[in-house]
Amino acid sequence: MTTHLSRGAKFAQRTARLRASTIREMLKVTQQPDIISFGGGLPAPELFPTREIAECTTEVMESYGAAALQYGVTEGIPEMRSWVAQRLANRLHAVYDPSEILIVNGSQQGLDLIGKILLDPGDHVVCEHPTYLGAIQAFDAYQARYLAVETDEDGIVPHSLERVLKTADPFPKFLYIIPNFQNPTGRTLSADRRETIVRICERFDLPIVEDDPYGELRFEGSDLRSLASFPTEGCVIYSGTGSKIMAPGMRVAWLAVRDHDVRDKIALAKQGTDLQTGSLTQYIFHRYVSKAAAFEAHVAEIVTTYRRRRDVMVDALREHMPAGVHYNRPSGGMFLWATIDGVDTAELLKISAEQKVVFVPGVSFYPERDVHDGMRLNFSNAGEEKIREGIGRLGAAVRAFKS
Ligand SMILES: Cc1ncc(COP(=O)(O)O)c(C=O)c1O
Repeated sequence: MTTHLSRGAKFAQRTARLRASTIREMLKVTQQPDIISFGGGLPAPELFPTREIAECTTEVMESYGAAALQYGVTEGIPEMRSWVAQRLANRLHAVYDPSEILIVNGSQQGLDLIGKILLDPGDHVVCEHPTYLGAIQAFDAYQARYLAVETDEDGIVPHSLERVLKTADPFPKFLYIIPNFQNPTGRTLSADRRETIVRICERFDLPIVEDDPYGELRFEGSDLRSLASFPTEGCVIYSGTGSKIMAPGMRVAWLAVRDHDVRDKIALAKQGTDLQTGSLTQYIFHRYVSKAAAFEAHVAEIVTTYRRRRDVMVDALREHMPAGVHYNRPSGGMFLWATIDGVDTAELLKISAEQKVVFVPGVSFYPERDVHDGMRLNFSNAGEEKIREGIGRLGAAVRAFKS
C-alpha cells in the first residue's frame, strides 16, 4: 500500500464533536411495544391527516403533473412562499414579502444552513440554558462554542444576556432562541422581555435566530408577538415548520429573512446541500393548507388533544411523584420540564427503562453537559391512558432510585 506524507486524518476536524443524539438512540429502544416513551419529540400519529394528504397528492398530480416532479427553484415553489408570508402576517403580525421566504427541508435543515453561512470554527453562539439538542448538533458540525445565558420560567433573562454580550470574546455570531413553549422546557419568553431582547440585540448588532416550531400549539392565553414582528435595524432570521401542524415526515419548513444578503447566502448554501426542497411535497403541503377551514380545524384538534394530554400528565405527576420532584405546566407545545432534587436523571433513566418508561435526561440539552437534575417529558405522543400508566411507573422508578 502506498503512503503519502501529507495524508490527513480520516475524518474532518468538524466531525470531532458529533455525538449520537440521546434521543435518536432512545427511539431505537422505544420501538418495543411495552415501553411507554415520553422521550421522543413525536407528534400524535393518529392525528396525521393521512386521507386528506392522499387526496391532495392525487389532486396535485392531476393539476400540476410533471411540474410537481420537476426540479424547482432553490428558494421554494412560489405558492408556498406566498402562503408562508400570509400566515406570518396573519398570525405573528410579521410582514414579509414572499421573496424573503425560503422553503427548507425541515427547520433542522434551516439551522444547519444558518450554521453553514455564519459559523467559523471556535465562533460563539448565544443560547438559552438549556436549549434544543438538535440546534447544538447542527452548530457542533461547524465547531461552534456556546454562551448559555441564564434562563428562568419567563425565558432568557435580559440583563444576563447583556452581561454576556459585554464580555464575550470573540463576540458571538448570533442568539439562538425558542420563544414559544421551548424545547426542552416548555417555557415561553414573557411578553415584556420580547422587545427588550430585540433591542439589546439591535444595540449590540447581534443577529437573532428565532426558532418557532411550537408557536401555533397554544393551549390558553393569547399569542405573544414574535421577535420578528418588532421593527428593528438588526437581523432576525425567523424559522417555522409544518412538522407540528401537519406532519414531520413532509419535511416542509421555512425561514423568513429580511436581510437580503443573508437570504441569498442561505439559498446558495442550500444549493450545495440539496438544490431544493422536494417539489412534490411542497405542492402537496400547499394544497392541504389551502383548504383553509379544514386546515384550521386540524390545528385546533391538535391543540385540544395536546392540552388534554398535558393536563393528564400534570395530574398524574401530582398524584405519583414524591417530594423533591418539581415540574411546570406549559401553556402550549409538546414538552414539560421536571427537575428532581439531587438526582442525576441519566442514572434514573436506567431504572425507569427497566420499569418500561423512558424520558430524555436534561443533561443532553446543556451545551456543556453540566446540569444533571432535569428531565424532558413529552406529552404529545402517548394517549391519555398511557400517560397515566407511564407517569405511575416513573413515580415508582423515582422512589426506587431514591431509596
Ligand atoms: C426547537 C426545534 N427546532 C427545530 C426542530 C426541527 O423540526 P423540523 O426539522 O421537523 O422542522 C425541532 C424538532 O423537534 C425543535 O424542537
